[in-house]
Amino acid sequence: MPTHTFTLNGEQVTVEAEDDVRLLWVLRDLLGVTGPKYGCGIEVCKACTSHINGKAFNPCSVPVGELAAGDEVTTIEGLADSVGKELHPMQEAWLERDVAQCGYCQPGQIMTAVAKVEKARAEGREIGDADFDEIRNICRCGTYNRIREAITAAAREM
Ligand code: FES
Ligand code: FES
Repeated sequence: MPTHTFTLNGEQVTVEAEDDVRLLWVLRDLLGVTGPKYGCGIEVCKACTSHINGKAFNPCSVPVGELAAGDEVTTIEGLADSVGKELHPMQEAWLERDVAQCGYCQPGQIMTAVAKVEKARAEGREIGDADFDEIRNICRCGTYNRIREAITAAAREM
């Protein structure tokens, strides 16, 4: 069986899996990293959103064979370490506003939110309503208003 090496939450990992196995299952079933959630498996619900090389992506739709040795994957488990803190400012804002209801969509929501703020910064601007309107992460509990409030607050601390 082929082996695949990449960086996961700051550490190099090597896994054995067929090339066409989607990364979400490699993360969850082979590596025990269960923060990225399975909702649809077809890049629609965004519950699995994580980062690859600093950008948001959906591991349910990426075959593990497409990863290169230099690729850096960050899941919600590694988000705080990426800023050298116990919690990322986005996680702090989430807690302060009690955003989560059932919680299932929330790792993906937070990872999307961080990528959105960082993308806006890279473009030399602050995150705004147009960015919020682009977010496609589904929340069946309807926490959308609190999500927007938390992202706005976290952006001030990032
Ligand atoms: S499980 Fe990945 S987008 Fe739905
Ligand atoms: S908090 Fe329940 S699905 Fe979003």
